[in-house]
Amino acid sequence: MEFVAVADCDKTKYMDLLLIADEQVSMIEKYLYRGDMYALWEGDLKALCVVTWERPGVHEIKNLVTAPQYQRRGYGRRMIACIENRYREGGGELYVGTGDSPATLIFYQKCGFEKSHIVKDFFVDNYDHPIYEGGKQLRDMVYLKKRL
Ligand SMILES: CC(C)(COP(=O)(O)OP(=O)(O)OC[C@H]1O[C@@H](n2cnc3c(N)ncnc32)[C@H](O)[C@@H]1OP(=O)(O)O)[C@@H](O)C(=O)NCCC(=O)NCCS
Repeated sequence: MEFVAVADCDKTKYMDLLLIADEQVSMIEKYLYRGDMYALWEGDLKALCVVTWERPGVHEIKNLVTAPQYQRRGYGRRMIACIENRYREGGGELYVGTGDSPATLIFYQKCGFEKSHIVKDFFVDNYDHPIYEGGKQLRDMVYLKKRL
């Protein structure tokens, strides 16, 4: 398994995968160029992640996706472990903001994240169309965090 940084000039090649985790291009563009992108390869591409530096001591996962055909095989969990390793040296905290969707929240909690705070109406106020997950409209952004 290979964990590699993606060069800035290659980031948009992966837009189709990023759109699975965040379905509006203009929202992805808000973090894609200032963030670091990583890919997990094992033969072919298994998972992608974009991480930003928000302020001293705080990094944030902005986008994490496992290729649909490889989900539930441990690649998301392994990507989180690689990200923690990559940023551990500086210490601090790793945040992630996500929709109030049980499957995603369970995944992050299994990876050791704890609920932090909620940004009310984030998905309603920032996206140009309603976002649905598991048949339910997403409204609030739920933030989780983990100490590095
Ligand atoms: C969320 C996501 C990244 C998880 O990646 P993954 O590679 O499928 O996850 P893993 O196989 O590493 O799962 C680790 C554990 O999390 C939990 N988990 C993962 N997906 C789950 C689901 N859909 N329902 C319930 N639990 C889940 C399980 O406990 C799993 O362990 P197990 O399979 O041994 O039971 C992946 O489902 C995905 O890409 N979803 C679409 C994009 C998205 O919603 N991204 C998150 C918002 S940024």
